[in-house]
Amino acid sequence: MTDADKELRVAKIRDGTVIDHIRGGQALNVLAILGIEGESGEQVSIGMNVPSDTLATKDVVKVEGRELSQDEVDVLSLIAPDATINIVRDYEVVEKHRVERPESVSGVLSCPNHNCITNADEPVETEFEVLRDGVRCAYCETIVREDIAAHIHAS
Ligand code: CTP
Ligand code: ZN
Repeated sequence: MTDADKELRVAKIRDGTVIDHIRGGQALNVLAILGIEGESGEQVSIGMNVPSDTLATKDVVKVEGRELSQDEVDVLSLIAPDATINIVRDYEVVEKHRVERPESVSGVLSCPNHNCITNADEPVETEFEVLRDGVRCAYCETIVREDIAAHIHAS
C-alpha cells in the first residue's frame, strides 16, 4: 500500500464549510459554538486528532450546506486560533481564510461571576475583551482562561 492508500480521509463535501486546523480535541466545542447537536439533520463530518503538517494533531469539522457568519467565526477564534475556514461550493474551495481574534466579543459568553452586572435580574449584554490567553469581562474584570466553550450562552 502507498501512504496515500493508508490514509483514511473524511469525504469531501459539496457545498458548505470546512473548518480545518482546529486544535486537537476542540472539535466538539466547535460544534457547540455552531449550535450543532445533530438533532436537526445537519450533515456533519468530524476528524479528531488527525495528523497535521503544521500542528501536532488537528481536528477537522465539515458542515454540509452551511456558511458561517462573522460572529460565529469570531467565537471560534477563541478556541481554535489557528483554524482555517474553507467555503466550498460545488466541491471547490472558493474562499479560504484564517480566523482572526477580535478585540472583544459581545453577547456570546456569559460571566462566571454571579455578582456581575451581566448576571443581574435585568442583565446588560455581556462583553469580554479578548486577551492573548483568555477573555476578560468588561464589567467585573473576571478572567476566563480555561474551557471558554463552557461559557458560551446556551442558545
Ligand atoms: N475539502 C472538503 N471538500 C471539498 C474541498 C475541500 O472537505 N470539496 C477539505 C479538504 O479535505 C481540506 C480543506 O477542505 O481539509 C481545505 O482544502 P484544500 O484547500 O484543497 O486543502 P489544502 O490545500 O491542504 O488546505 P491548507 O493549505 O489550508 O492546509
Ligand atoms: Zn463579569
